[in-house]
Amino acid sequence: MLYDRRSWLQQSMVALAGLAVSTETFAAPRNGVERFSKIHLPATTAILLNSNENAYGPSPMAKKAMLDHYKESNRYPDEYIPVLKQKIADHWKVSPQHILIGAGSSEIIGLSTLFAATKNKKIVTAEPGYKSWNGQAAAFGLDFIRVGLTPERKTDLPAMLAAINAETSMVYVCNPNNPTGTFVDADSLRNFTIEAAKKTMVFVDEAYTEYAEIPSLADLAAANPNVIVAKTFSKIYGLAGARIGYAIAHPDTIKKLATYQAWANASVSVLSSAAAIASLDDTTFVNETRTNTQVARNLCVDTFKQLSFDYIPSHTNFMMFDISKFKKNLIKEMEAKNIFVQSRKHFDGEWCRVSMGTVPEMQAFCQALKAIV
Ligand SMILES: Cc1ncc(COP(=O)(O)O)c(C=O)c1O
Repeated sequence: MLYDRRSWLQQSMVALAGLAVSTETFAAPRNGVERFSKIHLPATTAILLNSNENAYGPSPMAKKAMLDHYKESNRYPDEYIPVLKQKIADHWKVSPQHILIGAGSSEIIGLSTLFAATKNKKIVTAEPGYKSWNGQAAAFGLDFIRVGLTPERKTDLPAMLAAINAETSMVYVCNPNNPTGTFVDADSLRNFTIEAAKKTMVFVDEAYTEYAEIPSLADLAAANPNVIVAKTFSKIYGLAGARIGYAIAHPDTIKKLATYQAWANASVSVLSSAAAIASLDDTTFVNETRTNTQVARNLCVDTFKQLSFDYIPSHTNFMMFDISKFKKNLIKEMEAKNIFVQSRKHFDGEWCRVSMGTVPEMQAFCQALKAIV
C-alpha cells in the first residue's frame, strides 16, 4: 500500500534473513524431531505514521479473544462467521443477510468494483481521494472520472452527482475523506446517495466515521440494492493486521458480491473473527482511542501553527499539512529520525500526510518537525 513502509519492511526482512543465519532462528532437533521454535518477524521501534493505523490497538478485549481462540486455528471458522455477522447486524440494526465479511474493506472494495465492471466502465471519485484500490479497478477494465473537492477541501457532492452519466458504473465516496480528513454532513451525503443510486451504484467507504462520530448510511444500504457501505476493523478497532472488514448492503447485492469470493466470507480467519467480535464490545477502547487521537491532532495543530505550516483541519486519525515551501526532503529527514510519514502532490503543491500515533509518538513527531524546520 505504501511505498516507504514497504521498503522499510523489505529492508527489515533482509536484515532479519542475515540475523537468522547467524543466530540459528530454528531450534536444534529435539528427540530427533525437527520443530519450529521461533519465527522471527519484524517488530519495529520506528514511529509509523504513514498508514493510518491505530497505534493503541488491538483492543484489550480483542487481544484476549485472540489468545482464547488461537488454538481453534486448525478449524475453518464456520462457527465464528454467523456469530460475527449477527454481532455486526445487531450493531447496525440490520440482519445478517445484509452483511458480507472480507479480508479488510479492501476486499469489499475489490468485490464491489468487480461487480461494477459488469455494468459499465467509469467510476466517479473525489480528487484527492483514497486510491489504493485504483490499480485493481483498472485491471478490471474500469477507469476514473475524478472530481475536485470544494474550496473547503470537502467532497463536492453536487459536482459528483453532475459527473454521473450513462457510462458510470459506480460512484465511490469516502466520508470522512482520505487523505484530507474532512467530511460532508450526514444529511447531505444521504440525499446525494439517494439521488445518485437512482442512476448508478453508490459505494460509501466509512473507514473513518467512528473518529468523526458521524452517522453511518448502513440503514440506507440495507434497503437500497444500489448502495454499498464498507466498514473496517483496521482503524478505530485497531485490527489492521488481522485483515477484517465488511460490506453492508441489500441481501440481493450481498449475494451478488459473495459470488466473487471462493465461498461467502471465505477470507476470514478464526483469529480475525474472534478479535472482531470482541472489538465491537470494547467501547472503552474505542472511546479512549478517539480521545487520544483528538489530543494528538491538537498537538499537531499547535505545532503546525507555531511553524506556520498550512494544514487541513481533520476529523480522523490523520492530517495533511502543506510542505511545498519546505526546502529539504521532509520525508527523508523524518526517516533519519526513525519516523515514517507520507508526502503527496495535491492542490498544485506538496503535502505531508501524518497519521496519529500515540500521544508520546506525536510529541516525538512534533519535536522532530521543530528540529528539522
Ligand atoms: C478510506 C479507506 N478505505 C479502505 C481502506 C482499507 O482498509 P482495510 O482493507 O485495512 O480495511 C483504507 C486503508 O487505509 C482507507 O483509508
